[in-house]
Amino acid sequence: MEKLNGKAIEIIDEIVKRHSDRPGPVKLMLHDVQHEIGYIPMEAMLKISAATASSVAEVYGVVTFYSQFTLAPKGKHVISVCMGTACYVKSAQDLLEKIQKLTNSPINGTSADGLFSLDATRCLGACGLAPVCVIDGVVIGNAVKNPKVDELLKNCKAQAAATLN
Ligand code: FES
Repeated sequence: MEKLNGKAIEIIDEIVKRHSDRPGPVKLMLHDVQHEIGYIPMEAMLKISAATASSVAEVYGVVTFYSQFTLAPKGKHVISVCMGTACYVKSAQDLLEKIQKLTNSPINGTSADGLFSLDATRCLGACGLAPVCVIDGVVIGNAVKNPKVDELLKNCKAQAAATLN
């Protein structure tokens, strides 16, 4: 189990306390842990399990069922490529491979430099724009040939380079 720092443990304890008396607290707690820590560490699952009388397996089941929760820290920039049927038939696989090359991120993982996380997702609900990807919350339609994809990724890299200098 990874070793969390004292601040992260304090944050988790505060979140657990905040939602303990609410109905359906597991998802509320997980939501806040994901938001405030950036992922769901094992320590958080153990504390949530103890506070809600849910088994660790049940908490883990919630974490792995909802794509909004992650078991590892996400990269600075999060990219989702829709692999739903409408997008798939419009070359979403090509889009995914293109973005993978541009970001050096494994699919459903994070690049070694921590800059990009790349997720292949289910339908994002914008099938009319297929193929669709989302970069840091910006929805991009017709994304295989849309120059906005290259532009946004280039900006992300430029920002990161500027931060290092
Ligand atoms: S299948 Fe991609 S947005 Fe629906």
